[in-house]
Amino acid sequence: MLRNIAMMRSAPPAFLAQCAQRYGPVVRFPMPRSEVWLVSDPVDVRRVLQGNHKAYGKRTIQYDTLALVTGTGLLASDADLWRRMRRVMSPGFHHDLIAAMATSVHEVCTTWADRTVHRDVETQLDLDAAMLELTLEIVAATLLGGKLAGRADHLVEAVMTALHVVVAKAQQPLPIPESWPTPGHRRLRGAMTVLDAAVDDVIAARRTGQPGTDTLWLLITAMDEGIASVTEVRDEVVTLIVAGHETVAATLTWTWVLLADHPEAEQRVHAEVDKCSDPGPDGWDVDILERLPYTRAVIDECLRLYPPAWVITRRSLEPDSLGGFELPAGATVIASPYAIQRDAQWWPNPNRFDPDRFLGEASPRESGAGPVTYLPFGAGPRLCIGRDLALMEAPMVVATLARVLRVRPVRPTSVRPDFGVTLRPKGGLAGIVVRRQR
Ligand code: HEM
Repeated sequence: MLRNIAMMRSAPPAFLAQCAQRYGPVVRFPMPRSEVWLVSDPVDVRRVLQGNHKAYGKRTIQYDTLALVTGTGLLASDADLWRRMRRVMSPGFHHDLIAAMATSVHEVCTTWADRTVHRDVETQLDLDAAMLELTLEIVAATLLGGKLAGRADHLVEAVMTALHVVVAKAQQPLPIPESWPTPGHRRLRGAMTVLDAAVDDVIAARRTGQPGTDTLWLLITAMDEGIASVTEVRDEVVTLIVAGHETVAATLTWTWVLLADHPEAEQRVHAEVDKCSDPGPDGWDVDILERLPYTRAVIDECLRLYPPAWVITRRSLEPDSLGGFELPAGATVIASPYAIQRDAQWWPNPNRFDPDRFLGEASPRESGAGPVTYLPFGAGPRLCIGRDLALMEAPMVVATLARVLRVRPVRPTSVRPDFGVTLRPKGGLAGIVVRRQR
């Protein structure tokens, strides 16, 4: 491990894949404090995330450091608290409600395009930052019952700063107490002040509005009924903001990179969206997605090659048996969607961008109860609560923008991934947006 420290830092999934190749589907790392196991066989991954999920919790370095930002929101919580809050929030992600959110997504995109791109003039922007602001506005419109208080760019900056510090902390060999006034901790505190103020404003503004079915309203109702505390609601709103926009933004940013790098795929997306009827006064609704199977397949393939959640961790609460080895209680188990989804054992030509894999009867999208070889949203009871929203939102954003705009990174082939809390392009993504002549 010491010999490979540079690779561990610059390309952690490549390091994990190399370990799996050299030592097999279960690898135990020689860590001094507690055992750390890498699990790469999709059967074992299914067992940890689903079959024997009760034997595993989320008290890992990954989730404990993330909790410095999200508190005890769904992403980082465990046991009874997780069950109670998941029950409160799940109705907000009902299939019919997601379908109804499609028009809001379309509207936010159209407004963004009108505001950002001027007729016949090339607009230069940081595509990564643009997608973060766009998806944050979508979180507000769909889950938080309206608009964000304050400026989206300030909030995005606060979230990204906080996550940056969190990643740096997770990589420290020895934990540094949060009370120490390091530059990182000071940046984290500054970012959290911005984030907390925005969350307080959003909750206060929503309280004075009409009752609704949005997730924030469900949370406020649970607070009023004594089912959730003020802090628990705050933590869930931060979690919705953090988990709900950064992941989708990363998916969109990588999609623009892949399309620019594969002009034939870009043409197929353009041809597909051009065949759709013009949006009516209320914009496109969810039915339009049925006419966009290729665009959806592009998103599926993007999530295979660049899963935003590139690593998933658990802590064993009791001994278990994985791949024929005895795992003790208290061990950290690592599974990497990135490494599994680029493993030639499960995916022919794994590094090739080929959306057609996801078209047709034998689409590898859902692996049912079998081994998990495709897990961008995780698996089992802790499956992403926003999965259906993301899979409606991402194709809708791509279709809405691709119909009127050409969105292009300046140098698609030189983009390098940054493996932080999510997998995103290193140093942003310089891009050009221009109106399409159809
Ligand atoms: C492409 C977009 C997205 C990806 C790739 C993604 C990925 C994931 C993954 C892998 C997990 C499981 C983590 C684990 O098992 O440890 C997860 C959980 C979660 N995601 Fe997402 N996510 C996306 C979009 C969203 C959206 C739009 C929301 C908005 C609500 C969201 C909210 C959450 C929450 C709250 C959890 C925790 C669920 C629980 O444990 O009950 N995600 N996500």
